[in-house]
Amino acid sequence: KRRIAIMTSGGDSPGMNGAVRACVRMAIAKGCEAYCVYEGYEGLVQGGDMIKPMKWEDVRGFLSEGGTLIGTARCMAFMERPGRLTAAKNMIMNGIDALIICGGDGSLTGADKFRAEWPGLMEELVQKKQLTVEQVAPFRQLNIVGLVGSIDNDLSMTDATIGCYSSLQRICESVDYIDATAQSHQRAFVIEVMGRHCGWLALMAGVSTGADYVFMPEKPPPENWEEDLASIVKKHRSLGKRKTIVIVAEGAHDCNLQPIKVSKVKDLLAGDKLKLDTRITTLGHVQRGGQACAYDRMLSTLQGAEAVNAVLDAEPGIPSPVICIVENKIVRRSLLEAVAQTKEVAKCIERKEFDKAMQLRDAEFTE
Ligand code: F6P
Repeated sequence: KRRIAIMTSGGDSPGMNGAVRACVRMAIAKGCEAYCVYEGYEGLVQGGDMIKPMKWEDVRGFLSEGGTLIGTARCMAFMERPGRLTAAKNMIMNGIDALIICGGDGSLTGADKFRAEWPGLMEELVQKKQLTVEQVAPFRQLNIVGLVGSIDNDLSMTDATIGCYSSLQRICESVDYIDATAQSHQRAFVIEVMGRHCGWLALMAGVSTGADYVFMPEKPPPENWEEDLASIVKKHRSLGKRKTIVIVAEGAHDCNLQPIKVSKVKDLLAGDKLKLDTRITTLGHVQRGGQACAYDRMLSTLQGAEAVNAVLDAEPGIPSPVICIVENKIVRRSLLEAVAQTKEVAKCIERKEFDKAMQLRDAEFTE
């Protein structure tokens, strides 16, 4: 029987548990044996009972749980070749040659590197007499399939990452709470949201809550943003608005790539021009916790099932796939191409090619 392992890696995101559940159950339904690797790559390097066989009922109740129940970690040992050698040995000892990873672009890149190195790692294990030729013979190839789990929605080539809509929902609820108190006191709030180098959460939160102004990395504000912000806020207030909400992505910067500091935005709103009673709220990790919304439960389930199909369809020479959603269809894309396009967005921002960065971030994959 084929043995397929699933693990979660990098920052947790709501919906990761749904992905684990779907992979385990689909693997079993397809006549395979399912395994979970606990604590991300850390578990792969440590081996032992960090790599556990899973039964159908072991993932019962997973859909409605937040975070990742099989744990995650940012593992330094796996970054080095000796760590990957130990990880490969642990996989062989458990008879596993297919790994589904649910994580962000860093975790997925690491996985593909592991796949590329696999034949060399096998040779080294035999050379060092850690395993015999007979032991490695059935495991000539490693299958890797990626699932994108991240609240940031920062991977190109997919419309949504597992977790981004739950996080957006949490941000909207929080802004609604803030709205009530802001309105009561006629205050202004500067709200910092997560997203790392991606402005999707900030932009969509702005759209969904009717914020007055949004700062995001891919589309910095105009050079004279202080005046721009002041005049917009003034106008909104003159129309009778009792509150002001400014959303700042944690990775936001101005058009000269200088970070936009929430304290600076606060000072501007509170300063002589606007004289608004202003507070700062940094939403932090509440954005990542809690139950997955319906969309993320559905997305993780459909994509988890597709990941198992992709493992079973894998053929030598075909690049590792990442499971995406494009125009509401679950599709497979090249993992390396998706990561490369994501990295290109960062390069465009560095070169101040902001329109191109937006395009690449938003690009629907066209064949
Ligand atoms: O990538 C997810 C994310 O929540 C980012 O939005 C944020 O910048 C980062 O992780 C926070 O990481 P940590 O949980 O390690 O503080």
